[in-house]
Amino acid sequence: MATRDALGRPLSNLRLSVTDRCNLRCAYCMPEESYRWLPRDALLSFEELSTLVDAFVALGVRRVRLTGGEPLLREGLPALVQALARKPLEDLSLTTNGVLLPALAGELKQAGLQRLTVSLDTLRAERFERLTRRKQLGAVLEGLHAARRVGFTELKLDTVVMRGVNDDELDELLRFARELGAELRFIEYMDVGGATRWSPAQVVPVRELLERLGPARPLPGRGSAPAQRYARDDGQIFGIIGATTQPFCAACDRARVTADGTFFSCLYATHGVDLRPTLRAGGDVTAQLDETWRSRRARGAEERLALRDARGPLANAQQLRDAPHLEMHTRGG
Ligand code: GTP
Ligand code: 5AD
Ligand code: SF4
Repeated sequence: MATRDALGRPLSNLRLSVTDRCNLRCAYCMPEESYRWLPRDALLSFEELSTLVDAFVALGVRRVRLTGGEPLLREGLPALVQALARKPLEDLSLTTNGVLLPALAGELKQAGLQRLTVSLDTLRAERFERLTRRKQLGAVLEGLHAARRVGFTELKLDTVVMRGVNDDELDELLRFARELGAELRFIEYMDVGGATRWSPAQVVPVRELLERLGPARPLPGRGSAPAQRYARDDGQIFGIIGATTQPFCAACDRARVTADGTFFSCLYATHGVDLRPTLRAGGDVTAQLDETWRSRRARGAEERLALRDARGPLANAQQLRDAPHLEMHTRGG
């Protein structure tokens, strides 16, 4: 039986960040010129990460997603995947920006990674460069094809929709996803740590997205998943993650751990629990995790929504420099 929090939500999902570094600078996540990175020697080793996953599994976690920053920047990542693939998990997945997939897709598949989610916000090279400050659309597209080629059949594409930036590309992105055989999810632009340029005007709410996309039927069976899935008249399935205007905190079963071993029970949480000292000392973190989850009352996205007109970026650039753990790219998205 999974451990339940103070609001009855099970601990079943772990998002494990393996690095805070990134090779892109997406405008909704890393818009600043410079960043304060986690100290290298603070990063958990693969052995420590593996021990940590065992503790989560003991408490009920059955799904693990590797995240970053950009997880493929972590040296030797396939070896970690291989170690995690031996654990009693129902699902082992990874979220990536795709830039390094041409080189790594095959090894990841071989190591036992089950599913891949790739961020794709635009199909236009110039726009990609403006949005990410890097000329890498070609690599991402090549990476997606490599992923298909090596047998990642359950492929998802994540598109953060920003008004006036990429909201004129919804149909093109859907067409691309259909041709690739991937499921696309549109994500509302969120006021998370790191999104220092966030404004409500740039959010395209679920309601509007649905109007713009035309007839689509909601599919049942959402469970704890952030995405509501829809089927279009032509049969294509896509998802919408309405994290900004229609939060799903009531069903949230996710724990997050940063690459330096700080445990957060919400994407918006301002305080985390440092697991590293115990892990480094060879101790067992199970009791610490259990206690933290049992007292969890987090409803971050709902609290943000309740701010209504007072809603703005979660933190400014200086606050983020003082507390890098608040960053979405440190927390793993
Ligand atoms: P599966 O359902 O396992 O395929 O994955 P997922 O949808 O949880 O994973 P993914 O990393 O693709 O998450 C998509 C996006 O949903 C993230 O990048 C965030 O924008 C948003 N999201 C993920 N987890 C949370 C969460 O706990 N709270 C909120 N508010 N948003 C989240
Ligand atoms: N709003 C919504 N999603 C975000 N991500 C990062 N920052 C934001 C934000 N401000 C998500 C995107 C990206 C993943 C790594 O994190 O889905 O693809
Ligand atoms: Fe973009 Fe992901 Fe890197 Fe953030 S962590 S800048 S969303 S690629």
